[in-house]
Amino acid sequence: MKFMVTGGAGFIGSAVCRLLVREQGWQVCNVDKLTYAADLYH
Ligand SMILES: NC(=O)c1ccc[n+]([C@@H]2O[C@H](COP(=O)([O-])OP(=O)(O)OC[C@H]3O[C@@H](n4cnc5c(N)ncnc54)[C@H](O)[C@@H]3O)[C@@H](O)[C@H]2O)c1
Repeated sequence: MKFMVTGGAGFIGSAVCRLLVREQGWQVCNVDKLTYAADLYH
């Protein structure tokens, strides 16, 4: 399955991305505005 996640560089969105990729093995496309809250190293 494929997902598009918005805000995936944030606190909650990054956890969602990790869950979908690592535990479900699904593909994720992350669309993030990269504001001050974004962290690409989550
Ligand atoms: N270490 C911690 O415990 C910690 C750290 C950060 C946040 N928090 C908590 O997490 C909660 C917030 O988490 P969150 O994940 O909802 O918010 P967040 O602020 O952590 O992340 C939001 C993400 O959405 C992105 N974004 C903003 N506008 C966008 C747009 N128009 N389109 C696409 N992306 C966009 C930002 O760049 C950011 O990456 C709060 O309760 C906060 O207190 C906890």
